[in-house]
Amino acid sequence: MAISERSHCRTKTVDQSIATCAAVSLFAFLFTFHPGSAAPDSDILKQAQQVFSPLPSNAATSEFPITPERVELGRKLFFDPRVSADGTVSCARCHQPALYGTDGLALPRGAHDKVNPRNAPTILNAAIQFAEHWRGDRKNVEDQAIQALIGSPSFGNADYASAMSKLKAIPGYSEMFAKAFPDEQDPVNQQNWGKAIGAYERTLMTPSRFDDYLKGSQDALSPVEQQGLRKFMEIGCSTCHSGPGVGGGMYQKFGIMEDYWKETGSKSIDKGRFDVTHDANDMYVFKVPSLRNVAMSPPYFHDGSVNSLPQAVRTMAKVQLGKTLDDDDVNELVAFLQSLTGKLPDELVNAPILPASAFEATITNTK
Ligand code: HEC
Ligand code: HEC
Repeated sequence: MAISERSHCRTKTVDQSIATCAAVSLFAFLFTFHPGSAAPDSDILKQAQQVFSPLPSNAATSEFPITPERVELGRKLFFDPRVSADGTVSCARCHQPALYGTDGLALPRGAHDKVNPRNAPTILNAAIQFAEHWRGDRKNVEDQAIQALIGSPSFGNADYASAMSKLKAIPGYSEMFAKAFPDEQDPVNQQNWGKAIGAYERTLMTPSRFDDYLKGSQDALSPVEQQGLRKFMEIGCSTCHSGPGVGGGMYQKFGIMEDYWKETGSKSIDKGRFDVTHDANDMYVFKVPSLRNVAMSPPYFHDGSVNSLPQAVRTMAKVQLGKTLDDDDVNELVAFLQSLTGKLPDELVNAPILPASAFEATITNTK
């Protein structure tokens, strides 16, 4: 408003008095930014309600329902390292509750310490995304959990059969699978492993003050957080990071204005979705990540190449929008992003008790 007023004044002919121009500006100032008036703030709220939406209470679908038996089984499986090739890798190793479902490493390590080529995103709110993984090469959380069993930098099992025999050798699980998947002949299989862990993940939602705000409580965000939100929408961050996840709804090229690695200092150049689809349009294309809990999940980007959130925000503005942000912009944007930190679900914070059984013993039993 202030900027367009000024340029409006500049277009006036010389004989028009500066005083008239100043009076118009003052008039505009009084009625646009009237101290104590709630109007501009409620405009931000209205605009935000068009772009984002509150998190659902869970991500159940008719294809992937949430039942208490599946969730409880999935929760145990999530924490159990004994289904991996070397007995050291559970989902929770790379998606640690105390680190908001991440591991703090640029690149995590799986079975036999094999380094993963990409950073571990959080599992919190992951189930609401339109696809999983940085390159969208997993359909949903169920598909993701199944394929992790045989991923060499993940659980590292040779095949599904050996993973399932490790699982069957742990006393107690067969019964829990039978309860979670009644009427099935052989319920201990990788499909049901995926469904059980998926059901658990579909419960892991972390609503924050931003959700209270979107539901109409304007005071849920501080003035500086609201300024950050306004900038997030004005600058154009929200053209990509939108919806209930503040991201997680589309693919975009990383490095629209300039090559991303010039800003991130990435050691190796990842071609993104191109390596999945071999379509030239997918060169350097990645899933737009959800920014829920982003302040709690450094390091940033698909390769964990940037350690701090302010730096990640500057990088985004530069390579996606061609903008250089000043310190105030960055501080406000970061304040807004911090308001996306939600409460950790108790079912993640509290580790479940797993059936007792040594890893060595399970290997012996399967021979
Ligand atoms: C060795 C570390 C490691 C282990 C073990 C692991 N993950 Fe991950 N997880 C990752 C990495 C790395 C990615 C990103 C991979 C990619 O995009 O290429 C990821 C991605 C995901 C995603 C997608 C998140 C998103 O925003 O796209 C989900 C969901 C997930 N993991 C759940 C699980 C579950 C469930 C298990 C156990 C069955 C598991 N992970 C085991 C490291 C791990
Ligand atoms: C044109 C689409 C687009 C725009 C505009 C955009 N982003 Fe992103 N953002 C992405 C993509 C794609 C990634 C993933 C990049 C990668 O591969 O690591 C990302 C990643 C991020 C990350 C890192 C998240 C993580 O978990 O590692 C942050 C933080 C972020 N964006 C914030 C912003 C902010 C703040 C703005 C506005 C200044 C913005 N983004 C504008 C598409 C966009």
